Amino acid sequence: MEKVLEDYIRMCYDGFLQGWHERNGGNLTYRMKAEEAESCAHLFTSSPRHMELPIDASAIASEYFITTGSGRYMRNVPLAPEKNIGIIRIDSDGKGYDILWGLEDGAKPTSELPSHLLNHISRMSVTDGRCRVIYHAHPANITALSYTIEPDAKTLSRILWQSETECAVVFPEGVGILDWMIPGGTDIAEETSKLIRKYPAVVWAFHGIFGSGADFDETFGLVHTIEKAAEIYLKAKSAGIIRTITDDQLRVLAGAFSVKINEEFLN
Ligand code: 13P
Ligand code: ZN
Repeated sequence: MEKVLEDYIRMCYDGFLQGWHERNGGNLTYRMKAEEAESCAHLFTSSPRHMELPIDASAIASEYFITTGSGRYMRNVPLAPEKNIGIIRIDSDGKGYDILWGLEDGAKPTSELPSHLLNHISRMSVTDGRCRVIYHAHPANITALSYTIEPDAKTLSRILWQSETECAVVFPEGVGILDWMIPGGTDIAEETSKLIRKYPAVVWAFHGIFGSGADFDETFGLVHTIEKAAEIYLKAKSAGIIRTITDDQLRVLAGAFSVKINEEFLN
């Protein structure tokens, strides 16, 4: 198995082991490097299925992505990768894509492909092309937390920064939050892709989270850190919070680790 596929499959199963992927919940896309696409070229079909896209993907024209299948279970990805994940190439005009490998038995890419692709476009542009991974998961604690606050990035980011010391270092920009919307469409994709320009991760209220990063470790680690902080917050809140990390401590922390904390969120 090609290394990039092995690494992708490992991330799918790691998310399942965390309990973030009940049933077909969650999805993962990876924008392949040229040499990675080349290493997989021997797998590609000579008669690919072609699909239309409901969004303009011209900014990522001709890029190769690994994607999970719609309705497929992360739990099953290591057992049968060719049925549960696939490789697609965006058309040169960005209006559709070819399924080059995998997604066997008529499977389609994730229903959240519009969100993934628009998020890739946003994060590519704000990270000078570093971002390659977009990950959607259904972790219980960050989803539960979204029921306890107004859908406001400052409120959410402060709670997370205060809930674990490493948080302000891992995501100094903060975390965005989108109020409830119907999933799987272009409206939620457009709104998420606007927020993800500012924040490396965006919570979907009452649903889950989208995280981004340069590689699988960075992206998984980001979502893991956010979910752990949410868990600590909910535990501390139910026990009764009597004190927390102060804004001055957050500033000192950011200085010590040379990160630029989002000052708009500090008092
Ligand atoms: P897919 O099975 O289409 O990837 O959808 C899962 C999901 O989490 C929708 O938000
Ligand atoms: Zn979902």
